[in-house]
Order: sequence, then C-alpha cells, then structure tokens
Amino acid sequence: MKKLIHIVDDEAFMRRNIIDALTRKDIEFAESNNGKDAIKELEQRQPNLLLLDINLPGLDGLSVLKETRQLYPQLPVIMLTAHGTSERAIRAMKNGAFDYLEKPFELDEFLLIVERALNYSDLVNEVQQLRSEKDHDAQLTGNEIVGRSEVMQEIFKLIGKVSISDAPVLIEGESGTGKELIANAIQRHSDRKDKPYIKVNCGALPETLLESEIFGHEKGAYTGAHSLVLGRYELANGGTLLLDEINSMPLPLQVKLLRVLETGTFERLGGEKSVYSNVRVIAITNRDSESEVADGRLREDLFYRLNVVKITVPPLRDRMEDLPPLVEHFITKYSPDKKIMISPKTLERSQQYSWPGNIRELENTIRSRLVLGQDNVLSFQKIETPEKSDSLDENANNLNFKERVSSLEKELVIAALHKSGNNKAQAARLLGINRRLLYSKVGEYEIEI
Ligand SMILES: Nc1ncnc2c1ncn2[C@@H]1O[C@H](COP(=O)(O)OP(=O)(O)OP(=O)(O)O)[C@@H](O)[C@H]1O
Ligand SMILES: [Mg+2]
Repeated sequence: MKKLIHIVDDEAFMRRNIIDALTRKDIEFAESNNGKDAIKELEQRQPNLLLLDINLPGLDGLSVLKETRQLYPQLPVIMLTAHGTSERAIRAMKNGAFDYLEKPFELDEFLLIVERALNYSDLVNEVQQLRSEKDHDAQLTGNEIVGRSEVMQEIFKLIGKVSISDAPVLIEGESGTGKELIANAIQRHSDRKDKPYIKVNCGALPETLLESEIFGHEKGAYTGAHSLVLGRYELANGGTLLLDEINSMPLPLQVKLLRVLETGTFERLGGEKSVYSNVRVIAITNRDSESEVADGRLREDLFYRLNVVKITVPPLRDRMEDLPPLVEHFITKYSPDKKIMISPKTLERSQQYSWPGNIRELENTIRSRLVLGQDNVLSFQKIETPEKSDSLDENANNLNFKERVSSLEKELVIAALHKSGNNKAQAARLLGINRRLLYSKVGEYEIEI
C-alpha cells in the first residue's frame, strides 16, 4: 500500500526539497502552504505522516498540531522548526509531536526520522485492523488464541480437524506456549462441548493419590476411604478428559491408563466391578514427547496410543510475528478502557528478547507494566538496558537534539542489522537508506557485527 506524506510549509522550495529527498515508489505526497488548508486536506486525504512547519502564515504550526492531535491522535507529526527555536520545539513535543527537525536539516537525520515515523504509522494501522478483526466471543470468555504466524494458522486448522473426531490428541510445547488454551479450543469446538470437561494434572500428586483421583475408589479401599468416590475418568463420561503433564505420570499408572484407553473399562481402587466410561482424551506434555520416550519417562506404547494426532506448539521466540498481535491482545485484556500504545522501539526490543517463559511471561510482563505504569505508552523495563533508555520520551527533551538523533540512529542501525542477520544490504533496505550510508554509520558508532 502506498503511503501518503502530507507536507505543510509556506515555502515552495522547502516542500520541493522534501519531496526530492523522499521520492520512492511507495510514497505519495500532499502539500499545503498554510494551516487552514492543511486541516482541510488532512480530513480529505488522511495521510500516514504529517510534516508540519512551525512558522506558518495565519494559523501557525503549533495550533495546527493541537488540532491534529485532537482529530487524529494516531497520526505522527514531525515539526519543522527554524534554527534556534528550541523553546517552541519543546512545546511541540509536549503537545504530542512525534519528533521535530531543525531547518536546515541533514538528509540522513531527516530520512531516519521519517522512516521511524512511517514505521510507527504502520504499527498503528496494524493495531487498528487487529482491533476490528477480533473474535469477540472468544475474547469475552478469555479463550481467544492469538496468532498470525504460519505455524499458528496450521494449528488453528488442526484444531478444526481434530474437533470433529474422538481421536486422542497429544499437545506438546514448552511451558507457557498455550497448550491448555489449545486443548480448551478443541473441547469447545467438539461435539462433546456441552458434556463434562475434566482436567487432571498428572504432575501434581503422588502415585496412589493420582490413581485414586483418576479412577476413583470404593468405600474402604484404604484407610480413610469412607465412601465411594468417583474418579475423573468416570466423571468425564460422555465428555473430554485433559491429562496435563502426562510425562510426569508414574510408569505403573501409565500401564493402567493404556489399558483403560484401549477398552474404556477399568476398576476403581479397591473395587472388583468393571466400570465403562466413554471419554475423549487430550494429553499435554511440556517436554518433547519422543525424548521422554527415549529417556524412559513416557511409555512407548502409551505414547503411540496418544499420538494419533500430535500438535506441537512452537516457543514464542520461533514465531515473533505473533508478538505484535499478542501484545495488543494483552493490552486490551488488562487495560480495556484506556488507549495504550506500545512504542515501536519497545516492540522491536521485545522481538529480540527470547521470552523463555513464552506467552505466559509476555502476558505477565504486560500486566504488571500496565498496573504500575501511568503513561499511555507501554515499555518493558525488564528488557531495557539502562544505557538504552528511551531517548524519545518526554523527559529526554533536555538532551540536545544531536545526541538524541545519534542514539536513535545507532539503535535503528543495530536493530536493522539484528533483524537482517547482519546482512548489510538488507539492513540498509529495512532502514530505507543506501548501503554506503549504513557502512558509514556502522563505522561512526563503532557497531560490532
Ligand atoms: N496464542 C495465545 N493467545 C492468547 N493468549 C495466550 C496464547 N498462548 C498462551 N496464552 C496465554 O498464556 C498463558 C499460558 O497459556 P497456557 O496455560 O495455555 O500455557 P501452557 O502451554 O499450558 O503452559 P504450561 O506448560 O506452563 O502449563 C495463559 O494465560 C494463556 O491465556
Ligand atoms: Mg498448561
């Protein structure tokens, strides 16, 4: 999609220079030479970025900025200020300008700031689109599975397919990847959705208690067994049984479970009578099931029985495309009434973090940040190193302009190199600058590759 940059400056040569500097296939321009026209043009064309001169005849730049912030709070505005007007520039920042540039500006700085603003605008659009695409039902029940990566799309299809059968399902993945959420979705979409859905955590109890928990016991089965107690397998009759952490189930119990899965019948502890229960089993393991078999923690015969359909949920670090929609999802979940944005830099940084606790860690990070934070821009302290403190937040205004641009530039270059796996040509393309400039920045900032 083409991007529209709206330039507001009373000097025609200024507008011309800017257009020359930015001309690219995917960019279009709108121009106004005064504040009143600018507002009209904004309404009609809805640009992705506004470049706004501060000295305008009639309605001046700051007033246009104020009006724009009211009408289009999401639109990034870069103020163009004359040399030596830092007071007004600071006021512009306080009034919500995305950034400001002092005229005459250096081309490199200009290009970087524009690029950053356009990225920001992309992000904002993406977020808005995600908001409107939300599955409201699942959202209401807190069961929505967010993910747009190819692997997650495949998993969604698989959930659809296995929902219509009674076959056992084995779900594996690291801790916090959403295995239980997937199990819930399978149950919710199945014919058994209105029948019992019973969960057992096989890692939480010692062997005898776990056996009694799953299969129940007769009165007098052991000391303290005062009455007949039905097990979860029996309680799940007609419905679905979720066996979480199946790899932690003691081996003798795995033998019993296998037999039960094959026949559907079992005896309660201390009982003689066979009980039949029609159960669909979903099993979860947070380790790689095949290595659990190899290491003797999961019986091979049980594994084959359960492994009719296997869903492997990849860790978050292997599907970073899912991070932006997940962030958005948790922001809405924990701060539904407040408009909160995430800064592009935080987003970029969080895509470089490995999230060992996966989505649970991401969710907890966002939740605690939203509880503690007062501003409406989300940033993650835990993954920010001190020297990388946000050079563009409000209280950084007393830093001098050059320092701010330099640190931003350096970060952008590092991020682009990281993203491209140190491929300089690709990094330069990501930044929208040429390779020569990238090389010179790498040298200037002594960035190690
Ligand atoms: N794709 C997703 N979209 C939205 N929320 C998710 C997603 N994946 C996980 N979550 C959320 O992350 C948290 C952890 O998910 P879940 O309990 O399903 O993980 P798990 O794989 O079972 O973890 P563990 O192995 O530690 O039990 C939950 O709050 C869940 O709602
Ligand atoms: Mg779980």
